[in-house]
Amino acid sequence: MKKIAIINGPNLNLLGKREPHIYGSQTFEAYFKQLQADFPKLSLQYFQSNMEGELVTKIQEVGFELDGIVINAGAYTHTSIAIADAISAVPAPVIEVHISNVYARETFRHHSYLAPVCKGCIVGLGLEGYKLALMALLN
Ligand code: DQA
Repeated sequence: MKKIAIINGPNLNLLGKREPHIYGSQTFEAYFKQLQADFPKLSLQYFQSNMEGELVTKIQEVGFELDGIVINAGAYTHTSIAIADAISAVPAPVIEVHISNVYARETFRHHSYLAPVCKGCIVGLGLEGYKLALMALLN
């Protein structure tokens, strides 16, 4: 059974109540249950933190053990060399997800430090992006 971690960064604990016109009205906890039901053949774990260092530590922890990581680093996507370095350091394939279409938003959201060190990126397809990332890792 493949083991995959989904890692969400800052403010993504507020999904469901945070700017629902951009991020939708579903909580990630509810969506995660749906993912577990949709992928019975995957062992999924979920981690969220608002702190950059905790995200780095989690990537280090799971990146040598699991078969893949799906990460939405939130605003750290646009600022964090430390998270990019952690992704580069681990052998697990990492897929970057963004719920909103960052390219249709402010220019500071157009650059990702993580994209060049990820296997691929899924942007702007809502929560469905996490499902698509799992499908990619499964294959
Ligand atoms: C986000 C996009 C980021 O620019 C933003 O800071 C987020 C969420 C997304 O999923 O669309 O927190 O990563």
